Amino acid sequence: MILETDIFKTFDKGWPILTAGTKDDFNMMTISWGEMGTLWGKPVVSVFVRRSRYTHEFMDKEDYFTLTFVEYQWYFEQLGLLGSKSGRDIDKLKESGFTVFERPHGISFDEARLIIVCKKLFKQELDMEKMPEDVRAKFYKDGDPHDMYIGEVVEILSDTYKDRRSSNLYKTGDGTGDGSCRWTVCMTTKGVYTAELYFMGGGGAHQELYEIDKEVFDLAGTFENDDYKTENLIREKGRRLYEAADERQTQPWQAVADMDYDKLCFWCDIMGHKD
Ligand SMILES: Cc1cc2nc3c(=O)[nH]c(=O)nc-3n(C[C@H](O)[C@H](O)[C@H](O)COP(=O)(O)O)c2cc1C
Repeated sequence: MILETDIFKTFDKGWPILTAGTKDDFNMMTISWGEMGTLWGKPVVSVFVRRSRYTHEFMDKEDYFTLTFVEYQWYFEQLGLLGSKSGRDIDKLKESGFTVFERPHGISFDEARLIIVCKKLFKQELDMEKMPEDVRAKFYKDGDPHDMYIGEVVEILSDTYKDRRSSNLYKTGDGTGDGSCRWTVCMTTKGVYTAELYFMGGGGAHQELYEIDKEVFDLAGTFENDDYKTENLIREKGRRLYEAADERQTQPWQAVADMDYDKLCFWCDIMGHKD
């Protein structure tokens, strides 16, 4: 999984919506404290939730949590609501107007521009006694300390592909063990799912385009020690649309399996394609 982001601004300026629970019973709240990095060899996110929050109950009982980033300027009011009212008192989904977008693990929202799904790994109650004096005075006058939840990142969906934002959602990652293959899967708002495999090595570049289904889209990038697994899944379950190569030893070549390859994969830079 690949996430290109300004790590310090992600939480502080992004105000993600932290959600935990199932489709029938979940809660969400706005957060602005969080960390991202590597722990125990895994990509991880840490979030900090005060014990008084209704969301805290869900964080304790659920195995997964999600972070949903929406366009801050468009949804400022909703983020304010989710960050000031409690799910104990109001129906936050109804009041915010957001639409549930179910992931294989966890709940997110259609309005997302970035979704990070995490598997809960660890919880630590922050010890107020060990905090700097000024921090305690500023944030914990009334007690109610934060608990830290560390989650392993198991899925990332983003509206951005090669620095271009769109209404599609993409997942992308390095396929082969040596990192020479990059896979990308795309979901459009119309529910069309496609994939690109792109290889770059000493011999040149190679691209394959596929039509895939929701199941492949959902599974892509969710394997532990991914190596070739996502790449193989796309090849095995996908319908090949197009293939092209620009190898050093041979002439560039293209093989078209479906004439609509460029319409289906409109989002991607297609090697050797001529309008
Ligand atoms: C911008 C912003 C950032 C927030 N960040 C956090 C946070 O990191 N941790 C936390 O416990 N509460 C945070 N809050 C407060 C909760 O979102 C708020 O108390 C919310 O109403 C809790 O809802 P709940 O009771 O439904 O869980 C933040 C609020 C806002 C507006």
